[in-house]
Amino acid sequence: MENIVALCKRRGFLFQSSEIYGGLNGFWDYGPLGVLLKRNVKDAWWNDMIMSHNELVISGGAPGTYEMTGLDCTIIMHPQIWKCSGHYDLFHDFMVDCRETKKRYRYDHILGRFVLAASPATRVFVTTLETENTQAALDEAALKFFGLRKKDLDKLQWEGEIMSLPDAMRSAGGAANVLGPDAKTPDTLTEPREFNLMFKTTIGALGTEEDTAFLRPETAQGIFANFKNVCDSTRLRVPFGIAQVGKSFRNEITPRNFTFRSREFEQMEIEFFCHPSQSAQWYAYWRDRRFAWYIEMGLAGERLQLREHGATELSHYSCGTADIEYQFPFLPPGEFGELEGIAHRGDFDLRSHMEGKLVKEGCELVLEKLPNGQPKHRGSGKDLTYYDDLTKERFTPHVIEPSAGADRATLAFLCEAYQVDTAPDEKGQPQERVYLKFHPRLAPIKAAVFPLVKKDGMPEIATEIYGELKKQFSVFYDDKSAVGRRYRRQDEIGTPFCITVDGQTVQDGTVTIRDRDTLKQERIKRDDLVKELSQRLG
Ligand code: GAP
Repeated sequence: MENIVALCKRRGFLFQSSEIYGGLNGFWDYGPLGVLLKRNVKDAWWNDMIMSHNELVISGGAPGTYEMTGLDCTIIMHPQIWKCSGHYDLFHDFMVDCRETKKRYRYDHILGRFVLAASPATRVFVTTLETENTQAALDEAALKFFGLRKKDLDKLQWEGEIMSLPDAMRSAGGAANVLGPDAKTPDTLTEPREFNLMFKTTIGALGTEEDTAFLRPETAQGIFANFKNVCDSTRLRVPFGIAQVGKSFRNEITPRNFTFRSREFEQMEIEFFCHPSQSAQWYAYWRDRRFAWYIEMGLAGERLQLREHGATELSHYSCGTADIEYQFPFLPPGEFGELEGIAHRGDFDLRSHMEGKLVKEGCELVLEKLPNGQPKHRGSGKDLTYYDDLTKERFTPHVIEPSAGADRATLAFLCEAYQVDTAPDEKGQPQERVYLKFHPRLAPIKAAVFPLVKKDGMPEIATEIYGELKKQFSVFYDDKSAVGRRYRRQDEIGTPFCITVDGQTVQDGTVTIRDRDTLKQERIKRDDLVKELSQRLG
């Protein structure tokens, strides 16, 4: 992974945000090549899912024909959207930091028990995080703290039951003498602080609490909020999908693993609306379609997997969810990281925005109410049901949501592309070669154009070719240093083809085209270059 990170910085794919000021944790900038790569990922997704979709024919594996369209919604939306969607409540966690170990914990995830030992005569609330045997973990922590050995277990006088840290603080009136998990001395945990995973901002100049708004933590809600607008302004008929690509923001507690968990990232989401009787088939269709897309784009082999969630893992509204996962090199062997989730969301989202925040009661979704019987978060009250004028049926569509991360996909394509082999250098000597084996559709630069040497009319022809190709493709011109070095520089950034103008070009109008992966060079007519490149790039 270090090699990939180093290459990303060296060749201008990714930089740490605000690096000259020491960086900002969880934020990343895409450099000159990174911006091209990520744009190609988003364009490939948009093109394959929306633009090239033919609504007149049944796509392979689909239960019927369907339509696709897109939206571009604002990042800041009405705060009630996040209250009804559940994000406002869900994304509010209380966290404590340990001043000694520098670790951060969810306040209510810390479990412990009061314990006394004769020497030193201290009463401490010893803590741990939940494990298979929490008491054993507490025994170990207490023995360590009191400087006792395993055989001295009976010298510990445990009091009461295992309880959460918030309960202990309540029962001890706030003075619990807490020994944090992994801490050596008590009293190192900070006061619990509200950790809002949604970034707050204020609308308008006064900045009162009523003016609080949030940066969206997902693009999906803008689509639900516009469902009626799309139905009313187009002739789309259910089933149809609405797609959106854009920035999302989450104040992640532990951003890490390069861009994998960032605080500002881009999502590529589809909300697919269908009749409830067909939603299980549509779910299976989208799950398989999205998995196939990553394979088509080059993520093949054992590093990619489709994992269907077990019943206990499903969200309260979901009748089926699958994750598309990739074995990123920064993960421990055998572990996979999520690239995309495909969720069957039933009618949860549209109902939430009609009625208000829903919770599960038994098998039913019901409006969450306050003790006084009022809705906890009131919905819009707008009718978001759909009327099918052919069947004369009114219903609330079910939603299938394929939700992908543009940054995670870009990172996976980068990791998968990174290759090292041995190839002869300009003197014919075998040398280690680092190259990025991108799918040609994703490669930031599609072709490089070189004059073999800077004389004998070659630069003039190469410049002309470059100008012609640039009208259609992302190309690069290079006339500096030995041609072998120029090839290596292009290999390292994943350019699939290098076109060289040499002495023969001047005589017969042919050029060489070199393939990044096979290193094979073919001679083709200069006039055929546009056609040839179009074919090879796919
Ligand atoms: N609307 C559903 C939703 O947002 P999610 O699983 O929270 O679901 C979807 O996010 C995708 O967004 C993930 O599969 C991942 O690719 C990307 N994503 C989520 N959080 C991210 C983060 N902190 N950094 C980078 N990508 C993230």
